Amino acid sequence: MTPGGSSAGARGRPSGGRLRIATVVGARPNFPKVVSLMEAYRSVGQGVVDPVLVHTGQHYDDAMSGNFFRELGLPRPDVNLNVGSGSHAVQTARIMTAFEQVVLDQEPSAVVVVGDVNSTVACALVCAKMRVPVVHVEAGLRSGDRSMPEEVNRIVTDSISDLMFCTEPVAVRNLEREGADPDNVFLVGNVMVDTLLRFRERARSSRILEELDLTAGNYAVATLHRPSNVDDRAVLGELAEALARIQSVLPVVLPAHPRLGSALAQAGLDAWSSRAPDLKMTDPLPYLDFVKLLGNARVALTDSGGVQEETTVMGVPCVTLRNNTERPITIEAGTNRLAGVAAEGIVTAFRRALQDGATGDGQARQRDRPLPPLWDGKAAARIVPILVERLRKRA
Ligand code: UD1
Repeated sequence: MTPGGSSAGARGRPSGGRLRIATVVGARPNFPKVVSLMEAYRSVGQGVVDPVLVHTGQHYDDAMSGNFFRELGLPRPDVNLNVGSGSHAVQTARIMTAFEQVVLDQEPSAVVVVGDVNSTVACALVCAKMRVPVVHVEAGLRSGDRSMPEEVNRIVTDSISDLMFCTEPVAVRNLEREGADPDNVFLVGNVMVDTLLRFRERARSSRILEELDLTAGNYAVATLHRPSNVDDRAVLGELAEALARIQSVLPVVLPAHPRLGSALAQAGLDAWSSRAPDLKMTDPLPYLDFVKLLGNARVALTDSGGVQEETTVMGVPCVTLRNNTERPITIEAGTNRLAGVAAEGIVTAFRRALQDGATGDGQARQRDRPLPPLWDGKAAARIVPILVERLRKRA
């Protein structure tokens, strides 16, 4: 199920000088990123912002979308474009076509896009052509690897954004190196961390460890979904071998993105997890269960960008199953290490991560290490006043 209506209802111009700000979500990692923004629009003062939440429908299963809205208390989207899955060109084009009509109907003062998914770049492109200001939250991250679709999305989005809000100092430097006007670039912290810090306490009451028969501090969590990892048979074989070896040392739980299930079947690896007795594959997990699972893990193994950041906040050692990261601050923080995608290297990195000696839910490590600057739960509260001031100046 995807929440929300099905088409773009015209709302007319906002009255009384209110700023209509449309915020776009589309795929799973976007949902936690807009929670604190939606709240900050309200907190900035009655009648200042008229928020419009647009869901492109890039992700649509309840497990990938609907239950995030319920758990995170997100408002029902004002508009749902219901674009669904497709090749990159098809999906991006469908979002652009449908979002153009939303901009015509809603006449927003600005459009806020988050992260690096196809919905981000598609809506940014529409706005740039229609001369509607584009605001990119989580701007400036660069892996240097253009074979990642997200890297292309990041570069294109930033190159046409009017305001850019960054999570880490390297991102600010990347944008300046690419010629962005420093006056339009702000280091504000991390909106996904706003949500993690806010919901972490609530996640403690999740029963996921009991449901999966796990003991806090005595298992690893793995996530895998990057096309370069799961769609390449040879790479997937290396990753499967690494996880099979790791589960003989420490139980592994693997909440599986839909892309992984179909990739395993295509690679003839359907039976792989059943030959690894201490590896549990589950459906994608709801947000609070995942936060509880991750926070209590001894080690995380992942190709996700968000998980690299969440483990930094929760003080859990993270082994990143990639050759590069666009989030170098997680390496500097001491929680993350790049392991590449070969089985041998991953197992070696895993053993080193075990020696890092995380305890229970990582509390001890978190006390030991300072968090990255401004990862304090207040990123959205910094972003929205800047946005309002800039838009008022333009009006
Ligand atoms: C997308 C993002 C990626 C992000 C990831 C998080 C892009 C280019 N990629 O990748 O950056 O890290 O989301 O999950 O935007 N599917 C379902 N149900 C759904 C959605 C998708 O079963 O609700 C299946 C479909 O078979 C689809 C496949 O998953 O073809 C991939 O979905 P897609 O949105 O194309 O990309 P992701 O791999 O999820």
